[in-house]
Amino acid sequence: MKTNDLITIKNLSLHYGEKLIFRDLSMRVPEHTITSISGPSGIGKTSLLLMFNQMIREEEHTKITGEILFQDEDSVMDLNTLPKKSLPELRKKIVYVNQNPDLLPFSIYENVAFGLHLQNVSQSKTKIRVEQALKDVLLWDEVKERLNAQATMLSGGQQQRLILARALAIKPKILLLDEPTASLNETLALKIEAFLISLKSHMTIITISHFQDQIKRISDQNIDFEQFVTQD
Ligand SMILES: Nc1ncnc2c1ncn2[C@@H]1O[C@H](COP(=O)(O)OP(=O)(O)O)[C@@H](O)[C@H]1O
Ligand SMILES: [Mg+2]
Repeated sequence: MKTNDLITIKNLSLHYGEKLIFRDLSMRVPEHTITSISGPSGIGKTSLLLMFNQMIREEEHTKITGEILFQDEDSVMDLNTLPKKSLPELRKKIVYVNQNPDLLPFSIYENVAFGLHLQNVSQSKTKIRVEQALKDVLLWDEVKERLNAQATMLSGGQQQRLILARALAIKPKILLLDEPTASLNETLALKIEAFLISLKSHMTIITISHFQDQIKRISDQNIDFEQFVTQD
């Protein structure tokens, strides 16, 4: 049956080697909402985020049980058992934005255009989408005169917005954000929050946040991660 839950997780557990990280995690992510995931550092939040686009498969010695069902148009797939050949397609739809800006050794422009080149988007369309994405993350005015400069020249806060722009340019269905405003000043963080809320009309967002105030302002539901971590 088709629901408006894009993601349904059932009894998900993760071990790294012998170490249990979390167990029996169940949650749902309705379409066009913002879900936040909160909890102390080192508890497994990033690991969970990496399961949504299956980047977790690149980690070693993982043991995963349970289901992550993704409702994609009329089909439902379990991401944990998705064939490897389907991963590139999945990663166009579910896009992860790293906590630490993972810049590519290219120019500002090429960093945002990267995913579009992989999808063979035409140069003229790429130009339009790069400009729009940079405007959306409030970086355009700061970089429009130096789009060909190395991205590594940017400040930490600019880099954080740049990698958000790279993800937006791909127009994902689900955007995974790992502490997206951690290196921004308060004014900028509030503007990015407002932008994220405006994105809900055509996207679904899952975000890790440490900030209780931010969680209250932007999320439709908050998952307190601690309940899935063993106490023994
Ligand atoms: N690839 C890995 N192999 C082994 N342990 C890992 C790996 N990645 C993360 N961990 C450990 O798993 C725990 C959860 O990490 P993480 O998901 O990054 O937590 P959080 O994002 O909540 O800070 C931490 O103790 C971390 O050191
Ligand atoms: Mg983390």
